[in-house]
Amino acid sequence: MTLNVFWFLPTHGDSRYLGTTRGVRAVTHDYLQQVAVAADTSGYDGVLIPTGRSCEDPWVVASSLIGATRRLKFLVAIRPGLSTPGLAVRTAATFDRLSGGRLLVNVVTGGDQAELEADGLFADHATRYEISDEFLRIWRAALAGEGGEAGFDFEGKHLKVKGAKTLYPPVQKPHPPLYFGGSSPAAHELAAEQVDVYLTWGEPPAAVAEKIADIRARAARHGRTVRFGIRLHVIVRETSEAAWAAAEDLISHLDDEVIARAQTAFAKMDSEGQRRMAALHGGRRDKLEVSPNLWAGVGLVRGGAGTALVGDPETVAARMKEYADLGIETFILSGYPHLEEAYRFAELVFPLIGKGRQEPQTALTGPFGEVVGNGFLPKVAQS
Ligand SMILES: Cc1cc2nc3c(=O)[nH]c(=O)nc-3n(C[C@H](O)[C@H](O)[C@H](O)COP(=O)(O)O)c2cc1C
Repeated sequence: MTLNVFWFLPTHGDSRYLGTTRGVRAVTHDYLQQVAVAADTSGYDGVLIPTGRSCEDPWVVASSLIGATRRLKFLVAIRPGLSTPGLAVRTAATFDRLSGGRLLVNVVTGGDQAELEADGLFADHATRYEISDEFLRIWRAALAGEGGEAGFDFEGKHLKVKGAKTLYPPVQKPHPPLYFGGSSPAAHELAAEQVDVYLTWGEPPAAVAEKIADIRARAARHGRTVRFGIRLHVIVRETSEAAWAAAEDLISHLDDEVIARAQTAFAKMDSEGQRRMAALHGGRRDKLEVSPNLWAGVGLVRGGAGTALVGDPETVAARMKEYADLGIETFILSGYPHLEEAYRFAELVFPLIGKGRQEPQTALTGPFGEVVGNGFLPKVAQS
C-alpha cells in the first residue's frame, strides 16, 4: 500500500517550545508559503489547514497558496452550521477548479460549544451532528449535479434547499473527497454513511484498531467502505536519544500552571475526541509515553492532536507501518517548528517509506551537497 503523507500549516502559530513566547515566530503569509512550498517540493501529498477561532481563516490561507505550489493538495475545513450548504458548495467548486483539482475537504462539526456560540451557532453536540448530516447530504448532491437542470431539493429537520445546483462543477467527480474526524458514536455513524476518509488523532494502535473496526462495521451496514487516516506530530532525530531529548526540550519551558489552565479549557469542551486525547496523559508530565514511541507531551497544552511519534527514523517508520497494517493509509504529520521539521522528516523518513520526489535537476547545487575543496563532489553516504 502506498502511504499518503501530509504536513500541516500552523495557522495558529509556530514555535520551538510549547507554552512560552520563547522561540516563537510570526506566522505571516511569507512563512506559510515557505512551509507549503517545502511540503510541495519535498513530496508531501498535501497539507491540513485547521479551522477555528484560534486560526487564520483556512479558505483564505489555502487560496493564497494555490499559485505558489504545484502538486500539493489542500485539506480545508468546512463547518456545517456556520455557512449555508449552497455557499460551501460554491466555495469548494471554485477552489477545486482554480487549483486544478487539489481540494480535499475536512468536515468539522466542532467540539467547543462556547466557540460556536461566539460564531453564531447555538446547537448542542447531538444537534450539531444532525446539522452535519443534513449539510453533507445537500453538499454532496449539489456538487454531483443531482436534480439536473431543476436542481436538488431537500427538506430536513434543520436545513432546506430548493433547486440547489452547481453551474461551475468541481474538477474532481462526483465531488472533492470528504475527510472527517470525530470520536463520538454520532461521528462514527456520520463517517460510515457519508465520508470518504475517517481521521483519528494519534491514539495508541489498539484504540485506533477499535475505532477502525467500529466504523468499518457501521459502513458495511450502509453498503459502503471508508478509508482511514491519522493525525500525529513527529519528533525524529538520527538517534533515539536525540529524539527523546528533543521531546523534552519542546516542553522544557512549560510550567504546571499553564498545563492546568489548558486542561481546564479542554475539559469544558463536549468533544469526545478531545476527551480521549486528554485522558492519555491525565495532565501529568511524568507518564507521557502512552504507548511505545507515542508521546503525549504536546497535548499538555495543545488542543486537538496531542501525541507525537518519537524516535530514530527506522523506529518511526516501523511505528507508522504498525498503523498502516491496521488500515491507516494517510498520515497527517507536523513538528515544531513546522518549516525545519517538514524538511527533516522528509529527509530522514521518506526514503524508508517509499515517499519523496526528486525535482528535475536544473540547479547545480543539489542534491549532492556542497562541493568539497572547490573541486569535487562529497562522498556518497552509506545508509
Ligand atoms: C484530524 C482531525 C482534524 C480536526 N480538525 C479540526 C479543526 O481544524 N477545527 C476544529 O474545531 N476541530 C477539528 N477537529 C475536531 C472534530 O472535527 C470534531 O469536531 C471533534 O472531534 C468533536 O467531535 P466528537 O465529539 O465526535 O469527537 C479535528 C479532528 C480530527 C480527528
